[in-house]
Amino acid sequence: MASPFPRFLHPFAKPTRTDFIEVARGDGARIYDTAGNEYIDGMASLWYCAIGHGRAEMAAAISAQVSTIEAYSAFDPFTTKVAEELCERIASLSPIVDSRVFLCNSGSESVDSAMKLARLAHVQAGHPERTLIISRGRGYHGTNYGGTSAQGIPPNREGYGTLLADVVQVDPDDIEAMSLLMSQNADRLAAVITEPLQGAGGVFPPKEGYLQQLRKLCDQHGAYLIFDEVITGFGRLGTWFGAQYYGVTPDLLTFAKAVTSGYQPLGGVIMAPSVCAPLEADPAFLLRHGYTYSGHATACAAALCNLNIMEREGLLERAVHIGKQLEATLQSLASDGVIHHARGAVGVWAAAHQPGIDSFAVRDAMLKRGAITRAVSADTNSFCPPLVITDKELTTLLDIFAATTMEFVKQKN
Ligand SMILES: Cc1ncc(COP(=O)(O)O)c(C=O)c1O
Repeated sequence: MASPFPRFLHPFAKPTRTDFIEVARGDGARIYDTAGNEYIDGMASLWYCAIGHGRAEMAAAISAQVSTIEAYSAFDPFTTKVAEELCERIASLSPIVDSRVFLCNSGSESVDSAMKLARLAHVQAGHPERTLIISRGRGYHGTNYGGTSAQGIPPNREGYGTLLADVVQVDPDDIEAMSLLMSQNADRLAAVITEPLQGAGGVFPPKEGYLQQLRKLCDQHGAYLIFDEVITGFGRLGTWFGAQYYGVTPDLLTFAKAVTSGYQPLGGVIMAPSVCAPLEADPAFLLRHGYTYSGHATACAAALCNLNIMEREGLLERAVHIGKQLEATLQSLASDGVIHHARGAVGVWAAAHQPGIDSFAVRDAMLKRGAITRAVSADTNSFCPPLVITDKELTTLLDIFAATTMEFVKQKN
């Protein structure tokens, strides 16, 4: 029997939902739906649109690339100037010295690529026994099988059969538990993967010193440290990467989202010489990993234009400015008891509601008033606005959040 539902099966949605908000167009930090409603985008779509929506300069860069060469395989023996240029540019911004850059199409692909490349580098270095990858509870690493296996959000792992062997989770904040697990598996450790600041799992910055200690443990045990910077990469923390914000340098760094601000799908992995050297040691070795669209010319052109805009408009500094307003407002709502507490850093924040308040209901009530947040769990809404959001728009967004939340608090009391 044919499904009675529309053909488009939405990601991360109930397959029976039909009343989606149909987005028609966007402009800066605002989007408009086909019913004529206007919204302030408090989430940069899905944590990615740093430069804001609807930018003609991006359209021109994409159009120019399509009419030159839209894309061409980067598998042996081909390359394009634009892909080479983008990797040079990313390496120059990267916290990792003398890095190389692998390109793919999404955050999930970047995570799976990093996991495969970490294991492969150990094999090429003569340590095929190093296969164990440790991730942290609450971590979100995308939805391909590698990332699903590394997920620290249990419901996201369920229903997909046997996940990858040798990928295990540990308590997200307990460095002693991490240390114990690492020393128990010292001779078979491949890597530890973590977001520097956990995003989709609820916006959890690392505990003071956690990442520094993790770096030390990885060095001590010969494991690679992978930072999943799909959200924190490209400006969200006021630095190009979260690694620079926290002062900890990983061996592999995944990125996607804000590298193009979503104007084209693009992701990748930045790799340190410690990872590349074993892959480069044997001239006969062939890297049997990659995607048809690795190094897609139009996606690369979009990324270069996006990075130019970010630099020209000072969007890293802008992230710091936005962050101050977000932090001050959310912290004062917390001290007034409107929310339970706030957590976050620079351009990404979460408001944990008072007990009994449903974050999805708050989100829906805000949508009716023209403001977008994301309910990242049953009790938390998150904020990650485009970095071009104006002070006035941000004030309106936070005013709507405060007024809506206060109504929920009053109803409950
Ligand atoms: C830290 C992190 N890793 C990986 C992903 C997956 O990215 P994508 O949805 O582009 O596959 C996300 C998506 O939100 C993410 O936040």
